[in-house]
Amino acid sequence: MPSLHRISLLLASVGSLAAVVNGVAYQDAFIVESDQSFQGGDLLNDVTSSLAALGASCTATPRIQFDSPHFTGSSFHLQCDDDIEQQAVLGAINNLGVVGKAWPVREVKAQRNIPRDGSASHIEWLPRGVDASLGGRDVATSHSSNTNVAIARQSTPDTLSTHIETGIDRLHAEGITGQGIRIAVVDSSFDTSVPGLAGTHVGYTKDIIGGGSVVGDNCSYHGTHVLGIVGAKGAGGSTTTTPYHGVNGAARDATFELYRIQACGEDVSHADLLIAAFLEAGARGVDVITCSYGGDNAYPEEPWAVVAARIARNGTFVSLSNGNSPAGTGPFTASGAAMALDVAGVGATYNTITPCLQWHGSLTSGGKTSPLSFTPGSRVSFPSTNLTVWAPTKSVKSGSCNKVADDMAPPADPANTILLIERNACWVDQDGVTLAASPRYNFTYVMNHMFKTPDSSPKPCPWFTDVPTERAQGIIAIDHDVGISIIAELSKGGNVTVTLPSDAATGRLSIETTNNTQSGGQLTYYSAWGPSLDGRSRPTVIAPGHNILSTFPRYLGNWGHGDPLVAGVAALVKQTHPDWTGAQIQDALALTAKPIKFNTRQRSEYGENRDFLAPVIAQGAGFVDAWAAVHTVTLTNTTSLNFNDTAHRPSHLSFTLTNSGAETLSYALHHTGAASGYVMNTTGGALYDLTKGDAQPIYAELAISPAALRLEPGKSATVSVSIASEPAMSEAATRVSYFGGYVTIDVVSRNSSGTNSTLSLPYTGFGGSLAALPMINRDQTYAAGYDAAAQSLSDARLAAGRVFECQYRGRGASPPCVFPADGLAPGLALALVTQTRDLAIDLVDKTSGKPVLPGAVYASGSNNPWDGSGYQAWNGTDGGRAFVPAGEYAWRVTARRLSADSGVFARDWDVWESEGWVLRYAANSTGLPAAGKA
Ligand SMILES: *[C@@H]1O[C@H](CO)[C@@H](O)[C@H](O)[C@H]1NC(C)=O
Ligand SMILES: *[C@@H]1O[C@H](CO)[C@@H](O)[C@H](O)[C@H]1NC(C)=O
Ligand SMILES: *[C@@H]1O[C@H](CO)[C@@H](O)[C@H](O)[C@H]1NC(C)=O
Ligand SMILES: *[C@@H]1O[C@H](CO)[C@@H](O)[C@H](O)[C@H]1NC(C)=O
Ligand SMILES: *[C@@H]1O[C@H](CO)[C@@H](O)[C@H](O)[C@H]1NC(C)=O
Ligand SMILES: *[C@@H]1O[C@H](CO)[C@@H](O)[C@H](O)[C@H]1NC(C)=O
Repeated sequence: MPSLHRISLLLASVGSLAAVVNGVAYQDAFIVESDQSFQGGDLLNDVTSSLAALGASCTATPRIQFDSPHFTGSSFHLQCDDDIEQQAVLGAINNLGVVGKAWPVREVKAQRNIPRDGSASHIEWLPRGVDASLGGRDVATSHSSNTNVAIARQSTPDTLSTHIETGIDRLHAEGITGQGIRIAVVDSSFDTSVPGLAGTHVGYTKDIIGGGSVVGDNCSYHGTHVLGIVGAKGAGGSTTTTPYHGVNGAARDATFELYRIQACGEDVSHADLLIAAFLEAGARGVDVITCSYGGDNAYPEEPWAVVAARIARNGTFVSLSNGNSPAGTGPFTASGAAMALDVAGVGATYNTITPCLQWHGSLTSGGKTSPLSFTPGSRVSFPSTNLTVWAPTKSVKSGSCNKVADDMAPPADPANTILLIERNACWVDQDGVTLAASPRYNFTYVMNHMFKTPDSSPKPCPWFTDVPTERAQGIIAIDHDVGISIIAELSKGGNVTVTLPSDAATGRLSIETTNNTQSGGQLTYYSAWGPSLDGRSRPTVIAPGHNILSTFPRYLGNWGHGDPLVAGVAALVKQTHPDWTGAQIQDALALTAKPIKFNTRQRSEYGENRDFLAPVIAQGAGFVDAWAAVHTVTLTNTTSLNFNDTAHRPSHLSFTLTNSGAETLSYALHHTGAASGYVMNTTGGALYDLTKGDAQPIYAELAISPAALRLEPGKSATVSVSIASEPAMSEAATRVSYFGGYVTIDVVSRNSSGTNSTLSLPYTGFGGSLAALPMINRDQTYAAGYDAAAQSLSDARLAAGRVFECQYRGRGASPPCVFPADGLAPGLALALVTQTRDLAIDLVDKTSGKPVLPGAVYASGSNNPWDGSGYQAWNGTDGGRAFVPAGEYAWRVTARRLSADSGVFARDWDVWESEGWVLRYAANSTGLPAAGKA
């Protein structure tokens, strides 16, 4: 049974479905893998019985049964009347003996991208209302009644910038369009009724949430958008194959299987749902699975990652988003399941073109009416009446979390009022409730204005805003300057109203495109870096993933912009090389990808381009070149060479080079360096932080042998690579440096009609031992007082020898200890440097160093890595309500260090112990065991 009262802060990061509030009742969900198939009911009975034996009354209800050769087991929901620790439940499940492994069900989120970076160039107006230009075609007619964005017919050539950049346009011109390939798209939900998907061949649909085959809902745009990027087809002209507004999928002739994995009203999915979708798609033998969801836990033994890797090893090409890290990139920012073994983790670059889709209404301010263009949000249903603008402020306020002044008059008519607030600002009512959701204000409509961007940067297209509340019927985003002028007018006592089209069918829409000369083709500011937590190179490749115009659900007007091209590219490779496995497709993508340069946007959003290659742990093999991947006749047997850390540094690594073509080819191999950097920070006060997006043009030297070779058709050779000299990084051992680059392979055809090309294979290494990295952030880990009334930990660190006087109220009291003097219980604030595979927190006797409640405090174990910060406090309510005698105690944290040995757990532990604090019992305590009186 759990012991110390672990407070819920941690659970946001540790337990996905957990909703423990102040330790009263507990609910959570678990996934179990068993050696053999078993009856879910029996397992659940066994679980609840063993929890009852621990004193917790719980009900278990089944979620999903997994019955695949790749994964046998089930997931279930657990609801308890009593407080119990997640770790104790995991322990109880594991002790049943029938279970191979058990994990908590974690949350996973769509790794969504937000459009930005634009300045006016070319505006194309889209026809209003029902589109006549479609002229009575069956497919078009059935789709036109509700759409106003049937854009002028486009001719067949592929004009999408993302296709031109990657050579997909040339493959399409060659007739390679994904025909015969099956692609599973695992995502929120899909509106296949939109015109842009009119010709898309959907072969199978599965609603993992509710069962059945209906995968559409009006709750999320994400799946529709992703599907369009890979599979948009029609209905823009005389045939269903003509792209609509030039938007056509990378593999538009493939057959799609759609799996809905996110429930309405939730903005997350859960790992068991993903597992179910992946297992089904894998068993159905699809060629490609794509999913742009990710979770915080990035160890390869996470259950979804385990399943993804098994499916990839069965031959399927599995493409996952390497992760978005809006808080800043740098080493170890990537997310699961893209860190799974054998899958492709894909990073994102900015599109070279910025499409800005705008709707149009009008604004009346200071007696003058002017046009108002806006980006629709996730709900767009407006009344035919005008809306009065109300802002909670007389001057623009950014950041967190401004409270509406008591003297600010609330809107007279909330139902006809639109709330204006800055996109990145947080506003709360007098009760601390987010303004957009506040029942005191009852806003039905919300208008975000963009925040101020640096003058040197292009003005962003207003961002798409996800639905903030259940009540909101309409939400839009407008330009920064327009928002400022409205607030100025309101602050003068003026009235401002807006007239908005009631929905997508009645509005006037335009698409404005801008050349992104500043960051086009570069890594996005949020594209997460590898390596995986066990030191493997990630991402695999990068591809355009930001500012992509694609299909949006009909209720949002059918079009929008926001994410996964690589799955489409993999389909084109598969179509050309049907015998290739997913692993071989990855090898070809990596060998033919083109390394790109670094930009300091990866440190801070509005940075600059640099004239050296971005780190391999940021870009992997580089920018995908679809045409080259399909046409390369030179092949390797790996996506990267991992020189690992200094404790595991191989003397050399080998790869095979194969000439699968029809003519003899000559190869010249040489080294090209990519940026190096450090993993750990050194700046004062932040010694235990990771660096963020830091890179320098300092390189290793490689020895490559042979450096020149000739291969006849069908012949292979082995190339050996070793590190001839490490990059000159003076603090490599203490801060752990990372480095990397490419074995560049110039291919020369000896035949005058043959084509020459340049290929490259990435490598990575670390200049220190990953196990030397601290795991516990000593700057932010400290003993503190826990304020039970406020349910928060005080920021103040304890002075050594601090006394906590418990008024004991008996073993059965809840809690047994109260601290009447100042209400503070002994607590611990804990912060980690990276996720750890295993963490234990002990309460130890300061003098002997022995744990006083052995195994009682948190111990995570490998199935439940600890990934964040949290706090812990003791008030006598350990599960057994074991009595802790008066004395001097300390907190001890033990965290397993990283290992650069894939799949192998480090033997090293990082151990930290707090200052001592003194526990005393007050004279007016009751029920004290005799020996405990002090
Ligand atoms: C954008 O780029 C395209 C292709 O390079 C070019 O034809 C066009 O003139 C550019 N537009 C602007 C506004 O610079
Ligand atoms: C492995 O792949 C084959 C061929 O695609 C497929 O038929 C089979 O069901 C897959 N196995 C599992 C366990 O998913
Ligand atoms: C809305 O405002 C516009 C511009 O001021 C005005 O022309 C129109 O009559 C108003 N509509 C309604 C229904 O009040
Ligand atoms: C907001 O709506 C609730 C429920 O409909 C209602 O009880 C409340 O009076 C409304 N508040 C205001 C300020 O209109
Ligand atoms: C704004 O509207 C209010 C309420 O309708 C009215 O009392 C006030 O005079 C208006 N202010 C201006 C400047 O028109
Ligand atoms: C590729 O081939 C080389 C040489 O045979 C071998 O050493 C290496 O392990 C292979 N790599 C992979 C990923 O299979």
